[in-house]
Amino acid sequence: MAIRNIRELGEEVLTKKCREVTEMTPRIKELIQDMLETMYDANGVGLAAPQVGVLKRIVVIDTTGDDPHILINPRIVESSGEQTGQEGCLSIPGKTAQVTRPAYVKAVALDADMREFELEGTELLARAICHELDHLDGHLYIEKAEGPLQDAAAADDE
Ligand code: NI
Repeated sequence: MAIRNIRELGEEVLTKKCREVTEMTPRIKELIQDMLETMYDANGVGLAAPQVGVLKRIVVIDTTGDDPHILINPRIVESSGEQTGQEGCLSIPGKTAQVTRPAYVKAVALDADMREFELEGTELLARAICHELDHLDGHLYIEKAEGPLQDAAAADDE
């Protein structure tokens, strides 16, 4: 495993649409392990593959520190309600802004064994799922920010 370099705002790779993963390979397994290690090292709650320079539809999320989720080719199949709160991103270090997201989302994705599963989330997990999936289509939370970017004290960076 290795900690990978996190790409930051301004780098073109963060604006691209990612490709679906069609088969699990040793290389992708290593990428997923590296993404988890990189996320934990940066104290993030989520990380998407383009943030480490790889244009594949893979995200990792862990909002509690001991509950890692690996989502391959994820899509949101259900959402409801609304929550408004501060959001940050490991690719935009030290900043935060207010963003409105669904209060509840259900995603369908493949796990590291390419088996389909569902992940339901509310609160921070719902926010993280939406934030990370946006990365896979080249979108950053600042596009949805309500008001200016602020300096973050200790936000949950995604
Ligand atoms: Ni992010």
